[in-house]
Amino acid sequence: MDLFEYQARDVFEKHGVPVLAGAVATTPAEALAAAEQIGARSGGVTVVKAQVKTGGRGKAGGVKVAKTAQEAEVHAQAILGMDIKGHTVKKVMIAQGAKIAEEYYFSILLDRANRRYLAMCSVEGGMEIEQLAEERPEALAKIAVDPNVGIDDAKATEIVQAAGFDAETAPKVAEVLKSLWTVYREEDATLVEVNPLVKDEDGNIVALDGKVTLDGNADFRQPGHAELEDKDAADPLEAKAAAMGLNYVKLDGNVGIIGNGAGLVMSTLDVVAYAGEDHTGGASKPANFLDIGGGASAEVMANGLDVILGDEQVKSVFVNVFGGITACDAVANGIVGALKTLGDSATKPLVVRLDGNNVVEGRQILADFDHPLVTIEETMDGAARKAAELAAK
Ligand SMILES: Nc1ncnc2c1ncn2[C@@H]1O[C@H](COP(=O)(O)OP(=O)(O)OP(=O)(O)O)[C@@H](O)[C@H]1O
Ligand SMILES: [Mg+2]
Repeated sequence: MDLFEYQARDVFEKHGVPVLAGAVATTPAEALAAAEQIGARSGGVTVVKAQVKTGGRGKAGGVKVAKTAQEAEVHAQAILGMDIKGHTVKKVMIAQGAKIAEEYYFSILLDRANRRYLAMCSVEGGMEIEQLAEERPEALAKIAVDPNVGIDDAKATEIVQAAGFDAETAPKVAEVLKSLWTVYREEDATLVEVNPLVKDEDGNIVALDGKVTLDGNADFRQPGHAELEDKDAADPLEAKAAAMGLNYVKLDGNVGIIGNGAGLVMSTLDVVAYAGEDHTGGASKPANFLDIGGGASAEVMANGLDVILGDEQVKSVFVNVFGGITACDAVANGIVGALKTLGDSATKPLVVRLDGNNVVEGRQILADFDHPLVTIEETMDGAARKAAELAAK
């Protein structure tokens, strides 16, 4: 999960990373009130910053300096509702204005290939960092970090030396890097990026912008992370599926997909996409990813169908199951149970392909049930074609 900048600011503060005051506003009036309070710390100056989970906000006009609270209100009016790379701005952060002397760059990320973390640091931070990384990669120090050691005094010193900080600034930055490592470790992050990390005119080091990605695999030991989730942005069907414990991802096509096992579902998406191209001129595409897992019960099948049929874009559903530990007869009973449960609310055609353990029994159960919406197909390709054609009708 990616955090908004204001959330990253709060997390930084919690772990002792120096940040400036900031408050979130969703209306120009709130921005005015926040700017009156926060500006008092910095001679009236605040910065109005679009809160969207994408980079390049400044270049898109989403970061504006205000000399007065009234000016902050005007900027907030302009920035709220703005579209930045497909993200609508629903919140702004009113940040205390900094008197910037220098802008640096620092990040820690997961380096999977080398089974290490990677720290990157540059004395030339700011909005042109991507260009710098491409044109003068030597100006961006890259230092491997051993996960068992992290960024201790020695590692922090190594990083600031490699980046080329002057003797006066280096130890101050090193202190902040250790706190940023604490954020990375304590919050189970996979990315902590500060751009810019600045030195202000008084020589203080401050994190002016923060990007943090949290590792969802650690949610079980990070109960506080649930409230950082952006509930506004969650797709309602995805939220419903998550509440039922289903592995569901909404896509924008018209063929609903249910399968058992992530690999099978992924290949089902491919096969349906190809069938849609070949037989419907691209009109039919997968509408979702849904893996009902190994031990799919009738209830899980019913829940899955309920979510998929709730997607208005779905015109047909392809149930693709390879019976293993869960035999095909159990899956067939699941489908029958689901259709009985759903009753009249099931209105879209279902194409079912069963194979594997107890396939004969499974197909027999569906044949006996003889539901007008259910078509049984023997092969995955045949079923994909049928589902694509039904969806395109
Ligand atoms: N609180 C602040 N006070 C003064 N100047 C600021 C402040 N926050 C940001 N700035 C200036 O605005 C620039 C852009 O801000 P920021 O880094 O937050 O956005 P961005 O880099 O454009 O966004 P993104 O990181 O999403 O690409 C900074 O490099 C800095 O010069
Ligand atoms: Mg930035």
